[in-house]
Amino acid sequence: MTPGGPSLQLNNFVGQSEAAAVIMPEPKPFERLPAMVRPTHYNITLQPNLVKCVFQGSEEITLDIKEPTREIKFNTLELSLRDIKVRLGEGESVKPSSTDISTTTETATLSFDRPLPAGTATLSLSFSGELNDKMKGMYRSKYTSVDGEERYSAVTQFEATDARRCFPCWDEPALKATFDITLVVPHDRIPLSNMPEESRVPHESDSNLQVVKFSRSPLMSTYLVAVVVGEYDHVEDTSSDGIKVRVYTPVGKQEQGKFALEVATKVLPYYKEYFKIAYPLPKMDLIAIADFSVGAMENWGLVTYRETCLLVDPHNTSASQRQWIALVVGHELAHQWFGNLVTMEWWTHLWLNEGYATFVEFLCVDHLFPEYDIWTQFVTNTYVRALELDCLKNSHPIEVPVGHPSEVDEIFDDISYSKGASVIRMLHCYLGDKDFRAGMNKYLTRHQYGNTYTEDLWSALSEASKKPVAEVMSTWTKQTGFPMITVASHQDGDNRVLTLTQQRFLADGSAGDSSQWMVPISISTQEDPSKVAQELLLESRTMQVVLENVSESTWVKLNPGTVGYYRTQYPPEMLTQLIPAIQDKCLPPLDRLGVFNDLFSMVQAGHTSTVEVLKILRAFEDEEDFTVWSAVHNCVARLNQLLSHTDFHSTFAAFVRQLFSRIGQRLGWEAKPGEKHLDTLLRSLVLGQLGLYGDKGVVGEARKRLSAHVAHTTTLPADLRSPVYKTVVAQADEKTYEQMLKLYREADLHEEKDRISRSLGATRDPNLIQRVLQFAMSSEVRNQDTVFVIISVAMTAPGRSAAWAFFKKHYQELVDRYEGGYLVTRLIKYITENFTSEDMAREVEAFFKDRQIPGTERTVQQSLETIRLNAAWLNRDQQTIKKYLADLHL
Ligand code: BES
Ligand code: ZN
Repeated sequence: MTPGGPSLQLNNFVGQSEAAAVIMPEPKPFERLPAMVRPTHYNITLQPNLVKCVFQGSEEITLDIKEPTREIKFNTLELSLRDIKVRLGEGESVKPSSTDISTTTETATLSFDRPLPAGTATLSLSFSGELNDKMKGMYRSKYTSVDGEERYSAVTQFEATDARRCFPCWDEPALKATFDITLVVPHDRIPLSNMPEESRVPHESDSNLQVVKFSRSPLMSTYLVAVVVGEYDHVEDTSSDGIKVRVYTPVGKQEQGKFALEVATKVLPYYKEYFKIAYPLPKMDLIAIADFSVGAMENWGLVTYRETCLLVDPHNTSASQRQWIALVVGHELAHQWFGNLVTMEWWTHLWLNEGYATFVEFLCVDHLFPEYDIWTQFVTNTYVRALELDCLKNSHPIEVPVGHPSEVDEIFDDISYSKGASVIRMLHCYLGDKDFRAGMNKYLTRHQYGNTYTEDLWSALSEASKKPVAEVMSTWTKQTGFPMITVASHQDGDNRVLTLTQQRFLADGSAGDSSQWMVPISISTQEDPSKVAQELLLESRTMQVVLENVSESTWVKLNPGTVGYYRTQYPPEMLTQLIPAIQDKCLPPLDRLGVFNDLFSMVQAGHTSTVEVLKILRAFEDEEDFTVWSAVHNCVARLNQLLSHTDFHSTFAAFVRQLFSRIGQRLGWEAKPGEKHLDTLLRSLVLGQLGLYGDKGVVGEARKRLSAHVAHTTTLPADLRSPVYKTVVAQADEKTYEQMLKLYREADLHEEKDRISRSLGATRDPNLIQRVLQFAMSSEVRNQDTVFVIISVAMTAPGRSAAWAFFKKHYQELVDRYEGGYLVTRLIKYITENFTSEDMAREVEAFFKDRQIPGTERTVQQSLETIRLNAAWLNRDQQTIKKYLADLHL
């Protein structure tokens, strides 16, 4: 989810028995809050102490008691509660006879001597807690003030289940209420919340403080409440539909908010038009937070971001980061409708939020920046990433039963995001834009301020389209995995007859189970490569299609545009017909990379030899399209991980150098005036590859350019920094390493710090590897960034074992530092999944056997499966790859 994060999984083959074991974590005992008592309104006052890093709060919650009850149960975690009482309708107050607080269920249960009558009541209480350093609940985020002093902001991050760490509440998405929020803050701090400020008065007893009250919110879920108190500057504008938009930045850096401001002010009216529903709040704030666990969070009216996901410094921000910022802003603003206005009933339907927002972020970036060709990039990132995870036996269905908070955390993964978005894209194509939009509008209008199940979306879309949406889509959301469509072809006079057969595709090449999907299929032919020649819905296991007047000497291709969420397996003759169309670029880019990527997945599953892919790779030497090259790069990177420990890795490196050399020559080091965005991205990809695989010319030039950069004679353009840093660090000695650290320390922009710290792992020197790992854990690197530095180390062969040893040694420290959650899950995935032997699989398995970090269980299973798939793949193809490469005499 964080940009540029490495996402290399390796898959593989038939009958490797251990890979077949699917050990799903046992569901943890969990109960939802009792339905007898529901909140309708919260009146909350919060007073963070930014020096002592604690906070005080008080609240009054209006309750609707549906039946007389002696118990009230709500969520609370790591808070001390005081002065609890309930005022009943007539004004009489009762105190609970006991308060039972459970840290396992994260609840408090108040018991009363006599039943509280049905009707309205008000629960009031005071509470206090710590502004923690775990980036959840209400926490502290560190910054340096203009005069160089270290200070803290108070910030909230509640999704999925951490509002309960800030104020006692009914912390479930379906329990929507209105919120009155009041903040008690020092005069010189900016207080922000979801709604605009309504009043501000001096505190009655402390002249340093003021009491700031915000307007009442609409009905909303607790996980979307937000508060920030700190020192910020801002830029602002009003969107064409009258919404006041502000981007808050660190003090003195408001210029860096301009890009996001421009995007946000355009996106709001775009969505208003797209959904045909106005943004319901009077203001929209976007704010950059120095310490932030995920990339960004869609709190209604106050969206919080990592600095790197919001701030653009025209001289130091790369084109790819700018593109990423546009996507993130588009994503979070999509949630303002999809997620905030209409919310999933329970976390099982999380994908409705995340899958949909991931789809829509591309729609809106395509609208704002057509030159990004963003839909093509969707395929190389989002779509391919989903298929790669989803071919594991340890994948899971999009809709997954979850209860306990740690299970909820775990589903913020590539299935909810990337598979979710991919199946929505497929559906969008199946329904057509007009019906899709009409259905969306029905859904959002019908359920606004309410909650939904996945089925509610299907009903609205099928009403609008008159197509069997629920029937088709439930095969994609309720089953794990996806089909492989096997094609057979014969000629019948002038007509070509295809026989299509579906079967679950599994990474180990085994036949899979009896799952079947309803698959919207389209077909293109050589006559007009960019046109869909035929469309059909594959509803059974197998089906015949007649293509009229299509000769046997021309190519036929499934899945034009790579929209269908499936793999295609062609017979050798059909594949052979497609190769020239790749080479002469008659096939559109998305189809070139689609054919290639499907073939690579067949290789990983053992249906075809890796050598077939190496042969086809050579057909790409003249390729010019960025997205096709990034598909090639994905494949090369996986092979590199697989082969990194073999005795012929240097031959493989020579092969890759040759593959990228022509395009490297063509692009050169200097950006052409007014060149295309995608060429800028391509240059950085290609030079990075040539540098990584040790092309002498590129290594020399990178050194030269870095020296000039360090000496302040010629500044490296932001787009070239990452490839140059990595190239130089890969060969670095102590002195160069020190130089990189100096650059890191001098860097003011977070993006630049990330770029440097994530390059350090490229070193192969055992001593430097240890230094990088220690640096990752030092106070110089924020907790939010530590894991990415360690992951960068794990991307090389010597680094991988070192990172694993380091992880084992610092296991407890890491667990305590993050207390579970998304960052540790990422760390475990990337440092383990690239191992390639059964021995390592056993070691990783043994390590996690008695150390289960809640929320990482499934990730561990997926990694084990992947390691075993790697091992089988290597065994299977190692010798033939070696011979093929040797025979090339590179
Ligand atoms: N709702 C999520 C933030 C989130 C993620 C909360 C994980 C809790 C756990 C937000 O909308 C989101 O998806 N953020 C992404 C960025 C997005 C552009 C893919 C992220 O943080 O990486
Ligand atoms: Zn999201």
